[in-house]
Amino acid sequence: MAVAKRPSATRFGVEPIYAHIVGWGMAVPERIMTNDDLSAFVDTTNEWILSRTGIRERRIASEKETTATLGLKAAQAALDVADILPTEIDLVICATSTPEYIFPSTSSLIQAWLGATHAGAFDLSAACSGFVYGLEMAAGAIRSGSARTVVVIGAETFSRIMDWNDRSTCVIFGDGAGAVVLRGSSVEGGILSSVLRSDGSGGDLLGVPTVGSIDIASIPTLSEGHKMGKMFMNGGEVFKFATRVIGESITQALDIAGLTVSDLKAIIPHQANMRIIQAAARSLKVDESIFVCNLERYGNTSAASIPIALCEAVQTGKVKPGDPIALVGFGGGLAWAAMVIRWGTPLPDDKTRLLRNQQRQITYRLAWWRALLSRAIRQLADTLQRMRPARGRMERLRRNYDRAE
Ligand code: ACO
Repeated sequence: MAVAKRPSATRFGVEPIYAHIVGWGMAVPERIMTNDDLSAFVDTTNEWILSRTGIRERRIASEKETTATLGLKAAQAALDVADILPTEIDLVICATSTPEYIFPSTSSLIQAWLGATHAGAFDLSAACSGFVYGLEMAAGAIRSGSARTVVVIGAETFSRIMDWNDRSTCVIFGDGAGAVVLRGSSVEGGILSSVLRSDGSGGDLLGVPTVGSIDIASIPTLSEGHKMGKMFMNGGEVFKFATRVIGESITQALDIAGLTVSDLKAIIPHQANMRIIQAAARSLKVDESIFVCNLERYGNTSAASIPIALCEAVQTGKVKPGDPIALVGFGGGLAWAAMVIRWGTPLPDDKTRLLRNQQRQITYRLAWWRALLSRAIRQLADTLQRMRPARGRMERLRRNYDRAE
């Protein structure tokens, strides 16, 4: 699917609507696991991991942290930057391969905890490309007029699905979340183009066998020694696929946007392996420094890696207002996605920030109690409903008794 951006009239106004990123945030667990920490229980070394991947350390979620708690924190940080109240959100999209449940969705949990009482919510499953897919879905909703403000989150706790005996896979991944707020605006720019692609024939190269609509005994990859609920990956094949599609898809997205690679100020790739990024730089004939890289500190956080890198790039000034930038994701599916964005949009007036910040904090507190109260009321209503037949039986008994009298 290749999408050219044609703004249209919407229920929010008749002027052209462009989808701009107006807020960004990230959240990573406090616990750092270095390569040396890993080599205490995995048959590996700091030298091997660093030279083969570029990773030095990753973050690992605590027992209390889950994909939704990390996603919530990232979304709250993004709302702070955008200075938007949770009640203004129309849609929450969470890209993840490590949701709490198949349903309820992680995005629904986040929606409730945010107090986004007017929002729809759904999870998006496209592995490491999920965040870019989510951005395109959000931009489409904004352009079509069905939404004005959308929160897109990439959040993962891959440490929960690691097979710690598989040394070629477990050394790569880490936990974290990143989020952005997208808003419709008549200011030209924002998301300019995207390319979304899939090749399901590579579904056997990486995945997580789990309970689903397939008979567990017939899951083909289990016969190859893969474990239920644990990730497997054919690293070499994924490596070759990744180096091919990064340059290809960025070039396609640039063509649609009417730009060339020399126009780009930054490329934010999925943070999988430093050697993949170096190969992509060679194929695009650009200097490596144009790529935003932070995998040294976080490893591969799958759907969270692009929004975390984007957030740090904006915070450190690597991405500035007016800059054309590209995002590119690739991974399980196989699925891949590239997007071109013209960064920058007017940020809200600073004078009202303090007040709105307080409003947001109150909304978050109320959201927690609202969720608890709604559940308690539902349970009470259910209990009363169950008692009704008993009350009915008592009434009938009394009527029969009265008649007999
Ligand atoms: N420590 C020490 N030695 C190791 C380790 C380790 N952690 N892992 C593998 N080795 C050994 C192997 O046993 C092998 O030894 P041998 O030659 O004696 O048999 C040797 O190192 C080479 O192994 P390879 O698996 O070929 O190593 P490779 O250079 O391919 O690196 C890696 C593996 C890092 C996984 C790489 O293939 C890679 O980065 N692939 C891409 C992964 C990716 O991009 N994933 C993105 C999608 S993720 C998603 O969608 C959820």
